[in-house]
Amino acid sequence: MYLFVACLLGAWALAAPQHYVVEDICTAKPRDIPVNPICIYRNPEKKPQDGEGQEAEKDKIPGFTNPRVWELSRANSRFAVVFYKYLASSKDNRENIFMSPLSISTAFAMTKLGACGDTLQQLMEVFRFDTISEKTSDQIHFFFAKLNCRLYKKANKSSELVSANRLFGEKSLVFNDTYQNISEIVYGAKLWPLNFKEKPELSRRIINEWVANKTEGRITEVIPEGGIGDLTILVLVNAIYFKGHWKSQFPASNTKLDLFHKTNDETCRVPVMYQESRFRHAFAPQDKVQVLELPYKGDDITMVLVLPDAGIPLLAVEQDLTSEKLQGWIRSLSEISLSVFLPRFRIEDSFSVKEQLRKMGLEDLFSPENARLPGIIAEGRTDLYVSDAFHKAFLEVNEEGSEAAAATAVTISGRSFPMNRAIFNANRPFLLFIREAALNTIIFMGRITDPCS
Ligand SMILES: *[C@@H]1O[C@H](CO)[C@@H](O)[C@H](O)[C@H]1NC(C)=O
Ligand SMILES: *[C@@H]1O[C@H](CO)[C@@H](O)[C@H](O)[C@H]1NC(C)=O
Ligand SMILES: *[C@@H]1O[C@H](CO)[C@@H](O)[C@H](O)[C@H]1NC(C)=O
Ligand SMILES: *[C@@H]1O[C@H](CO)[C@@H](O)[C@H](O)[C@H]1NC(C)=O
Repeated sequence: MYLFVACLLGAWALAAPQHYVVEDICTAKPRDIPVNPICIYRNPEKKPQDGEGQEAEKDKIPGFTNPRVWELSRANSRFAVVFYKYLASSKDNRENIFMSPLSISTAFAMTKLGACGDTLQQLMEVFRFDTISEKTSDQIHFFFAKLNCRLYKKANKSSELVSANRLFGEKSLVFNDTYQNISEIVYGAKLWPLNFKEKPELSRRIINEWVANKTEGRITEVIPEGGIGDLTILVLVNAIYFKGHWKSQFPASNTKLDLFHKTNDETCRVPVMYQESRFRHAFAPQDKVQVLELPYKGDDITMVLVLPDAGIPLLAVEQDLTSEKLQGWIRSLSEISLSVFLPRFRIEDSFSVKEQLRKMGLEDLFSPENARLPGIIAEGRTDLYVSDAFHKAFLEVNEEGSEAAAATAVTISGRSFPMNRAIFNANRPFLLFIREAALNTIIFMGRITDPCS
């Protein structure tokens, strides 16, 4: 028997009506919510790994933030960077990448709730949950709920961040009541019984439609054809979706077709947006990059762009990337007047996360012989494993945020560069992060190597 995990998400800079999901858990104390997973992992006493201890001292925990929630956010960021590097090494250097590491961590935390033994230990280690300074693992779900409260309640009315979690289970099976209850309280995921055995294709369509509904039609077909078979028993879905308006918009009349240097000797033409304003920016000469932060309205969510110096391949920056280095760049940002050139683009990315996670050490969860997930199904059956995990993400970046802006007429002409002003010209491959600024949570992450297609 198998279950599989689908994570999907959309993110784009568009205007939208707002709605918030407010859960009781946001005001709850740990003792109010008995999160008692079937198995508990105990952290062995160990020394912090390279750099992990020092960072805690440099970064101040923002007010009103549970220190464990802060640590969870940092654990998720560490996972994000490592996962990104595995993913990047499996793709062609010229391919765009876009994903929500937060969505992946959340979906797998939901499986952790029912996991035991080595399966549990590997989940703790690969997702870096073991770096949270709590003796046992059972509170992680509570901290996840609190993190979600911070993220999804905080989004300013002018931007929209929505996450939806759901379990879809084979209707003839009995799922563990405790598992269902905890995952509903913590992750808001109620089980929806479907007839996988007799109607796998119809079930797939229902799940994909639910996801499309939750993402306003932006993410469709998250589960590919054949992704659900008559042996499927449980599908975990985590969808995340963001729309924001730039705090400082790019005047549409500034947009011009220009060259993007995909590699040293390959270029393509793309509409390039332009504005001059005050932004938080940093040169990091030791790492041969410059970093720019573009806030969305409300300032709680920002896009961070990391642009290698001219002549430095993005690959070199990617290979040296660590979450500590990224935090260091963000700490060094300071506000200056800047000329910003940024391509207008839309990217979609989808992939199975299984291979990269296995390479990172998450092996047992995907193994029919070794997976231990007795907490998910009643009577603690041990023949359950995760067969696959699909991820799909979408990003659109434009001048102001509205779809109408995409219809802006584009003219081809030269452009004179402003004098005496620092310039951030994203005319070559760059890294991109969308983060929640106060908690410093990486919500989305990717690289733009070809904005033209
Ligand atoms: C699960 O929740 C239902 C409905 O809230 C409740 O009736 C049931 O007792 C709970 N089961 C467990 C095992 O907590
Ligand atoms: C999606 O939304 C439509 C219209 O609101 C509704 O009729 C349909 O049942 C929804 N489908 C799912 C799977 O949630
Ligand atoms: C939300 O953003 C608007 C516009 O940027 C700002 O005026 C308002 O104070 C913000 N509200 C909160 C709660 O941050
Ligand atoms: C469900 O899981 C809980 C632990 O989370 C366990 O104590 C209980 O025995 C399980 N129930 C069944 C029916 O297997």
